[in-house]
Amino acid sequence: MSTNQFGKKGWTPERIKTLKGKTFVITGTTSGTGFEAAKILLSKDAKVVMLNRNPKKAADTIATLKEELGNHIDVTNIKMDLAVQASVKKAAEEILKTVNQIDALICNAAIAQTPKHGLTIDGWENQMGVNYFGHYTLQGLLFPLIEKSKGRIVSVGSMGYNMGIKTIKFDDLNWEKDYTPNNAYSQSKLAQIMSMYELQDKLKEAGKTDVKAYACHPGASRTNLINSNGSLMMKIIFYLMKPLTQSAEKGAYPQLMCATEPNLDQTQFYGPTGRSNWTGPVGAHKIEPHAKDKAIMEKLWAVSEKETGIVWAI
Ligand SMILES: NC(=O)c1ccc[n+]([C@@H]2O[C@H](COP(=O)([O-])OP(=O)(O)OC[C@H]3O[C@@H](n4cnc5c(N)ncnc54)[C@H](OP(=O)(O)O)[C@@H]3O)[C@@H](O)[C@H]2O)c1
Repeated sequence: MSTNQFGKKGWTPERIKTLKGKTFVITGTTSGTGFEAAKILLSKDAKVVMLNRNPKKAADTIATLKEELGNHIDVTNIKMDLAVQASVKKAAEEILKTVNQIDALICNAAIAQTPKHGLTIDGWENQMGVNYFGHYTLQGLLFPLIEKSKGRIVSVGSMGYNMGIKTIKFDDLNWEKDYTPNNAYSQSKLAQIMSMYELQDKLKEAGKTDVKAYACHPGASRTNLINSNGSLMMKIIFYLMKPLTQSAEKGAYPQLMCATEPNLDQTQFYGPTGRSNWTGPVGAHKIEPHAKDKAIMEKLWAVSEKETGIVWAI
């Protein structure tokens, strides 16, 4: 393994001095890595705009954060359900109206391992619709403000990118045939990662090098992910895996690093660098070539434009 650029301990939030004057927009902060990331950003005096689907949970989250960090923190929630394109568009509109700058958009929210096949209201397989198309639309609509802010887009992927069929099932994107929870989840996470590498190429071609795009993942972290959606079997498997996993706080480090660390190489994949990339010091690590298959990346982008109707102003 190559040496970690941040030393033996890897990247930790100690590297962040202050985030005063910076604004972060983050999806899915009611639990898990999103909650921990928001908390650390706020503890460094950043402004945080959370995007959550459940207003009651969002209000409780804000109350908890204020209890833990003090009433002075600058945190708000805008309602957004990634499963509904109209909701994503409405939230983006509100952000563009009310938020002056975006130093980083962190695409953290997700559903995983949904046992039964199902479609979102817009007609996509649930995990593809929420994790990928929801974020694709959000990113595309917020891009002008991110560009104006010389900001970043951070996509929280998964080592699942290297499970499942390891490509995009273009001839059956919505898994009408042969649905398995893991294959569909893995495809959605692969799509999230691939779209970051494709975006990098598009930005480079257009000479828009002030905007950065990063792909990362939280390893295996103790969050609500499997408990919210997974089958009983998945819940048992994750319970048994517990000794091999890390805290949600540590799981938040890769996305925090990608959102804040200066001079980070966009072409890398960031996450824990220990065994199986589940835990360990955070840094860059190997990514398998299928995640950067240019022909698939280009096709995915074209399909995403067509499916969502969102064409980025690049
Ligand atoms: N935990 C792991 O080991 C692991 C491994 C690999 C990758 N990841 C990735 O890490 C990220 C964070 O997940 P986590 O483990 O922290 O899971 P989590 O605790 O379940 O948090 C997921 C968050 O996403 C939100 N969310 C789900 N569906 C949404 C929708 N339709 N619209 C808006 N928000 C929605 C949830 O909100 P509600 O409260 O409303 O449900 C929650 O705030 C995900 O991208 C996941 O794929 C996690």
